[in-house]
Amino acid sequence: MTIAAAAKGATRKSEVTRYQMYINGKFTDAESGKTFEVYDPATEGIIATCPAGGPEDVDRAAQAAHRAFYEGWKGTTAQERGRILFRLAERIRARRAELAELETINSGKPIVEAEYDMDDTATCYEYYGGLATKINGEVLPVPADAIAFAMREPIGVAGQIIPWNYPLLMAAWKIAPAIAAGCTVVIKPAEQTPLTLLKLAEDFEAVGLPPGVVNVVTGDGPGAGAPLVAHSLVRKIAFTGSAEVGKLIMRSAADQLKRVSLELGGKSPNIFFSDADFESAVDGALFGTFINQGEVCSAGSRVLVQRDIYTKFVDAAAAKAKTIKLGRGLDRETKMGPLVSSEQRDRVAGYLEVGRGEAKVAAGGGRPKEFDKGWYVEPTIFYDVDNSARVAQEEIFGPVMSVIPFTDEADAIRIANASQYGLAAAVWTRDIFKAFRVVKSLEAGIVWVNHMQPTFVEAPWGGYKASGFGRELGHWGVEEYLETKQVFINLDEKPIGWY
Ligand code: NAI
Ligand code: MG
Repeated sequence: MTIAAAAKGATRKSEVTRYQMYINGKFTDAESGKTFEVYDPATEGIIATCPAGGPEDVDRAAQAAHRAFYEGWKGTTAQERGRILFRLAERIRARRAELAELETINSGKPIVEAEYDMDDTATCYEYYGGLATKINGEVLPVPADAIAFAMREPIGVAGQIIPWNYPLLMAAWKIAPAIAAGCTVVIKPAEQTPLTLLKLAEDFEAVGLPPGVVNVVTGDGPGAGAPLVAHSLVRKIAFTGSAEVGKLIMRSAADQLKRVSLELGGKSPNIFFSDADFESAVDGALFGTFINQGEVCSAGSRVLVQRDIYTKFVDAAAAKAKTIKLGRGLDRETKMGPLVSSEQRDRVAGYLEVGRGEAKVAAGGGRPKEFDKGWYVEPTIFYDVDNSARVAQEEIFGPVMSVIPFTDEADAIRIANASQYGLAAAVWTRDIFKAFRVVKSLEAGIVWVNHMQPTFVEAPWGGYKASGFGRELGHWGVEEYLETKQVFINLDEKPIGWY
């Protein structure tokens, strides 16, 4: 199938495009014939329909992935798999404008951020394209009359469930290492944002992915996600999303002792000492919290500020927050788009109400008045927040910052670690001794110094404590899709001579 012919995966009817899911190399409807609607969060309009996948569709996809694994894919060389990933990256770069625009329309995020996402997505496939040929075993130092080694083998069929905040990028974080490892994949995008991955699936065959190696099943969590976790042919589940669903997945996976990796977000502290560069600090607080409308698992939404700069800091952050340009993501001037769904807008609006009762409001605090359509929320800063408040302890996943004062280094560390979560943290200071002491004390999987959010495919990503376990990206990412086999070879030809 050529790339042009592959466009049949989506057909346009008036303004609403009808998408199909991708199973065993073919675009297909759900067996039930049911569909669900996909929205543009800026207009609240329906832009597409997708098949509402159920257990039957998950089963078709898992069977296809299982067959593909045992009937060929398992025997491919690392070089072949690497080249496929490079070609996929090339397609993403070639389709950057189209994919970024669709990502923005479907998720609400500013187009400039969607373009970054497409570059990061391509880079992720390139990284794992290169890594595919560097998955080595180890030779072990056993006695002279033997050889022993540890070899790495793909787990088999990987089930992957992803969220809606970075749709195509989150798919890459999971598909790329799985393919590098030699696994086959059934992936379920979030029901809010399935479009870009289905668009990319048009290219799967052309880049050399055989039918069944990557299957995309659309549908909601209970309908398609849960049966994927429970499917007996699926050997591993990789999940990014809420802690609540992470627990459900772990419980369900326990029935088959299925491997699980979980990335469950957080309530990450962003710590500002009074010796930090003030302008960068204020900017870093806003960037750390408000990028992608605050719909970021690593959002630095707990802003800890040392008392001697506290008032000046809150005033400066509030003044800047009020200048953030809200609007439709497609507008290049937009710095913050609408939230992804009316549910998410309502959830965040609920926290705004909670926060108004728990703390003081420095900026925002409600829904902007200038839009009559679109799931917008004002960039909001709460201050004088107690670390035990709900807006300091619960993940909000929207543009909401909670500012908490601290006295000294020990106080900052104590407050920073007083959270069930431990995904990310940042510390801002010009004192290198202090910076490293704090780095060593923080219970978080990712720690930034004098920045917050830069993410590189080379570096491990994942959390401590209730933020989950397992690591994505870097060589750690591929480990999640590999088994380790110990092999011992006896070189002593004498009988064993025990009995
Ligand atoms: P969610 O955790 O319900 O959804 C994430 C993915 O899990 C989606 O693909 C969904 O279809 C799937 N899912 C839902 N229920 C499932 C089930 N029973 N079995 C298998 N898969 C299931 O997240 P939701 O409801 O969209 O957002 C709620 C909160 O979760 C947000 O406010 C935010 O705090 C957090 N969240 C964290 C993310 C992160 O990056 N760590 C991403 C998205 C949400
Ligand atoms: Mg949910």
